[in-house]
This record gives sequence, structure tokens and C-alpha cells, in this order.
Amino acid sequence: MKLLGTLHLPGDKSLSHRSLMFASLARGVSKISNLGSGKDVETTANVLRELGIKIEMTGDRATVYGDSFKMSQNQLDCGNSGTTVRLLMGLLAGQKISAEFIGDRSLSSRPMGRVVKPLEQFGAKFELSNDCLPAKLSASLLNGANYRLQIASAQVKSALILAALGANGSSIITDPYETRNHTENLLISMGANISVKGFDIHVHPLQNPLRPIEWEVPADPSSVAFFAAAALAVKDSCVEFKNVLVNNTRTGFIDILERAGANYQRRNLRFMYGEQICDITVNNSDLRGVSIDKSLVPSLVDEIPILAVLATQMNGRTIVRGAEELRVKECDRLEAIVKNLRNLGVAIKEFEDGFELEGPQNIEGGTVSCYHDHRIAMAFSVASLLTNQKVRLDQPECASISLPEFYELLEGLKFY
Ligand code: S3P
Repeated sequence: MKLLGTLHLPGDKSLSHRSLMFASLARGVSKISNLGSGKDVETTANVLRELGIKIEMTGDRATVYGDSFKMSQNQLDCGNSGTTVRLLMGLLAGQKISAEFIGDRSLSSRPMGRVVKPLEQFGAKFELSNDCLPAKLSASLLNGANYRLQIASAQVKSALILAALGANGSSIITDPYETRNHTENLLISMGANISVKGFDIHVHPLQNPLRPIEWEVPADPSSVAFFAAAALAVKDSCVEFKNVLVNNTRTGFIDILERAGANYQRRNLRFMYGEQICDITVNNSDLRGVSIDKSLVPSLVDEIPILAVLATQMNGRTIVRGAEELRVKECDRLEAIVKNLRNLGVAIKEFEDGFELEGPQNIEGGTVSCYHDHRIAMAFSVASLLTNQKVRLDQPECASISLPEFYELLEGLKFY
């Protein structure tokens, strides 16, 4: 079996959330196509509707009628989506809207103090239970503030930028970790007075409404990673990806694999709303083990589960350190990686902030626990291509959080 074909994957999840939210804040009608197809993006659309925004959805196209947010009588159910809740905390605080946020079991166990505490420095009023959801936001006036991020989190950074747009006075938010910068790029393209100087993001309150947007969201590089890893590892494979987001705060996975010997090409580089987009072809390659440290983690934070699976097929040692953020994602992803690989017969050493394994190693059959985490499910379904034995996932359906069509697309690439 080999993997051959061309994929035009659904839009990037981070950009889809932001496109819907910022289009809601704009004045005028925005048209967004190739919106991310996962449940998380649908959650954002539903919460925005709950806040009085009209959003029409036809297939992967959304029409958003920008308007002022209205307070909702209902709790805002953010489901499984950290990006939805954390960005909206900042956005609604800045728009002086009271709200109550809830989420599913996984989201309700993830830390929210990381965004609430800095927002309080701008004057936002929150009540949290034990650092977690449910969270209550009471409308209050915000002041501009200077804040240096304490953890590498684009969600926290984005919440602060969005709050600062509605504050009295200017703010400077400093991001020494260089996390994904889609919020800055898109807001600047929509007319916000934001300037980036080194690590400092200067945000001036909105004087004029944001302009609406019209664009096709480029394909999600974090979804590309699963198919690219499969193409790299399965003999004689070659897969082309169209219209992929290649913002350099997101390309850590592909960049490090290129250094490890991956045979791949980028073509047709273009720009839209401050984002770089291109087509990519990935060929089966012999890879060397890689070493990832804290400074690289933000650019491949969501790709580490699939990197771990791919590392079993690479020659030599792969070591990941400084990735403690993975412990507070949709599940404890470091634990999920290590336990599942061991279940499949792979020797791997776990650290508090990462793991180490020596490749190549055989993958044996066994059952994988997905921990209700989409990226664990997709990473280990790629593992099942790398062995002749049976690998069973206990919750394959959780892939739908970011890519419901994952299994169908993977099947479509198989040639015998
Ligand atoms: C995201 C940022 C990352 C990432 C998540 C999406 C975003 O989270 O893991 O999938 O859209 O801003 P953190 O910013 O918390 O690391």
C-alpha cells in the first residue's frame, strides 16, 4: 500500500475561529469560504449567534453580518474549544458584555486563570471556580495596560489584544515566545490600529469599526501534518496539498522535517490578509531523528503527537523537551503519547516536559486510548498504517473536533 493523491483540506482552525469572531465585530457583511469543518469552529459560530450575530452557513461558506454583541440570557457553551472560550473572554470583556462561559468535561478541566488574571489587569471582572470553567464575566470599563506574557499561548495573547481594542487608552502586549500571530495579521488587515515592533504588540483602541473580510481560509497545516507524516513514512508515497497556510509561526513541523531529510517542495507562494499560503508536495523519505527544544514548541505545538508517531520510523534519537503545555491541551497529550506508544510495543522515555525515543522501532498491534482528543485519534490512526498488525482506536469519532472527514480522506489516498 502507498499513499498517492492531492488534498485540498478544510480551512485552518485558528483562522476560522478568528475570521468568524472578527467578522462579527466588523461593520458590514463578511464572506468566508473553506471554513474549518470541525465541531470547534461550529461551536464558535453558535456562540456568536447566541450573542446576537447573524451567521448564515452553506457548506463550507459563512456569511457573517457584523453587528454589536447582545448579552445572552443563556450560558455560552464553548464545548471542547479552548480557542472559542479564551478569545471570547477577551473580546467580550472589551465590548463590555456580561457572559457566563461553560464547556465540556475536557474544557472544564483546562486552566483559565492564564487568561482571566491578565485580563483583570485591564480591569475585567471575572469569577472562576478553581482556575476552571464555569466562568462569569461582568461588564466593566477596561483600561489600556502593558502586559508581558508569562506562558507561550496565542490564545492568551489574542484575548488580551481583543480586550485592548475596547479599552480606554493604548496597550502594549509583549510575546517573547513568538506564538502564532493570526490575530495580529487579520485585525491589522481589517483596519485595526495595531503595530508589531519586535516582541511588542502595540494596540490602540478601535476608533472606527473593523472592515469586513472576504476570503478563502487556507488549509490547516495542523491537519496537513497527519497526511504528510503518513506520506513521509509509507514507502513510495507522494501527496500534494493545495492552498496550505504556511505562516512561519505554524511551520515548525515541516521545517524540522526538512532539516531531518524530508523530500518535499513548496510552490506558488502567495499572501492574503498577512498570511502566507502555498502548495506543498510531500514524498516518502528516509528521515533522521530530531531534537525539539522550548523555543521551537510554539511553532509545532499541535503537531507533537504525530511527530512522536513518525519518530518511531526515523533513524536515531528524537527528543522533545520544553513541551509541558501539552499536559493542559484537550487531554494530557504527553501521557497519551507515551502510554499509547508503549501499548503498541514502542520503547519511549517520558519527561515532565517531553519524551525521548530511539528509531526506527516496530509498531505492534493493540488498542489506543484517544482520551476524547482529536489529535491523539488522528496521530494513532497514522500509526496503524505503519504496521501489519491491527491497531484499534477506542474513540475514532473524536477526530471530528477538527477534521470530521479525516478517515475518508486518508482512505482515498490509499493505492494497492
Ligand atoms: C491556538 C493556539 C494554541 C493551539 C490551539 C489553537 C489558537 O493554543 O494549541 O490548538 O488558535 O490560538 P495555546 O495558545 O494555548 O498554546
